[in-house]
Amino acid sequence: MYSEKVMDHFSNPRNVGEIENASGVGTVGNAKCGDIMRIYLDINDNGIIQDVKFKTFGCGAAVATSSMATELVKGKNIQEALEVTNKAVMDALDGLPAVKVHCSLLAEEAIHAALWDYATKNNIVINGLEKPKTDISEGEEEEIY
Ligand code: FES
Repeated sequence: MYSEKVMDHFSNPRNVGEIENASGVGTVGNAKCGDIMRIYLDINDNGIIQDVKFKTFGCGAAVATSSMATELVKGKNIQEALEVTNKAVMDALDGLPAVKVHCSLLAEEAIHAALWDYATKNNIVINGLEKPKTDISEGEEEEIY
């Protein structure tokens, strides 16, 4: 049911932890399953994400997608990081079962929330970044659960 890459990132997640004095921190949850993810970004003066860490209190798919998402944004600039969608994360993991697709949204939204925090702290506007939700289950269709 899960790809080898999902199992690898679940069993051996990359970039787990916290960054002290992070440039941006984002926390999002899904009230329906109760899972929570927090992403820490360390962004240098050139707008490059030089380090990223995460903590996920959630299911295996949430852990694997967080791990892959951190790998995908590390070393990227802010605009490139915005393009790391949940679909890009799923593709990099060779897919997720349909019932687990919503788990990958936590990673995308947590990165956006951390970028939003960074932009707010530095008084800048990031083109294409909208205010993230803190609960990603808001407005979702009941039947996907
Ligand atoms: Fe909640 Fe996967 S079941 S994030």
